Amino acid sequence: MGYNNLLSEKEAGIAYITINRPLKLNALNSETIRELNRALSEANEDSDIQVIILTGSGEKAFVAGADISEFADFDVEEGKRLAAEGQELLFNFVENLSTPVIAAVNGFALGGGLELAMSCHFRVASENARMGLPEVSLGVIPGYGGTQRLTQLVGKGRALEMIMTAAMINAQQALDCGLVNHVLPQEELLDFCEGLAHKIMKNSPVAIAAAIKAVNANHDKSVNGFQVEIEQFGHCFGTEDFAEGTSAFLEKRKADFPGK
Ligand code: COA
Repeated sequence: MGYNNLLSEKEAGIAYITINRPLKLNALNSETIRELNRALSEANEDSDIQVIILTGSGEKAFVAGADISEFADFDVEEGKRLAAEGQELLFNFVENLSTPVIAAVNGFALGGGLELAMSCHFRVASENARMGLPEVSLGVIPGYGGTQRLTQLVGKGRALEMIMTAAMINAQQALDCGLVNHVLPQEELLDFCEGLAHKIMKNSPVAIAAAIKAVNANHDKSVNGFQVEIEQFGHCFGTEDFAEGTSAFLEKRKADFPGK
């Protein structure tokens, strides 16, 4: 089944998922959120796919936010449901995928767009990218995890300044505060992300999935992250990838991970 709001392609172990509503600057309406859930699930379950690159279509926007036209007349209960369903279907979902997801932030990443980029495992931006959480300018707060993830990524003071001023920061400022890992000219963005994907793909997919679980545990107050790390570390010893990785090292050859 195809998508109304996405382009989804795969090539050489990488899934490219592109949010494709350029006339609305790729704003996330509820159908797009459901389609993203489906495309990401399919890529995550596809054993040929080792990295997902998520980006926006056009040269102007990654995602300019949740689609304001969809929630402008919501009441309190509808507002709560919007945030809860979105967090479950997309934002928490992306963060907990076992396949690495790189956000290629190719322009505006505002509100839900920045929240989506922050849910990805890490972010790379183009020089023209602009990022912000402008929700208080609309009389609301970020509801797709932005208050939590921005604080985790840049610290409380910077997060509160960005949220309270509703101001956008540019790519260099995002790099300086650790919100993105790299900044590239727009025409080099996807190639650079592919280069990172190829480095990731040389390593054990099961160990990478275990690393995502352990790192995410750092931000989950219901678990002890050190304990999760011990469990995931132990789990790796029972995998074929561990047998292959250690044998390859001892035999002085390149590992060929079965991904099991
Ligand atoms: N929701 C719904 N539609 C959006 C949108 C959003 N978050 N962001 C942009 N759009 C639409 C605009 O309404 C416009 O549609 P139209 O052509 O049918 O009128 C189209 O995308 C192009 O946007 P426009 O505002 O004309 O582009 P611009 O270059 O002048 O400004 C932005 C770009 C990003 C600064 C501006 O679109 C903006 O402020 N968007 C909202 C950002 C926001 O508050 N996001 C958080 C939502 S919680």
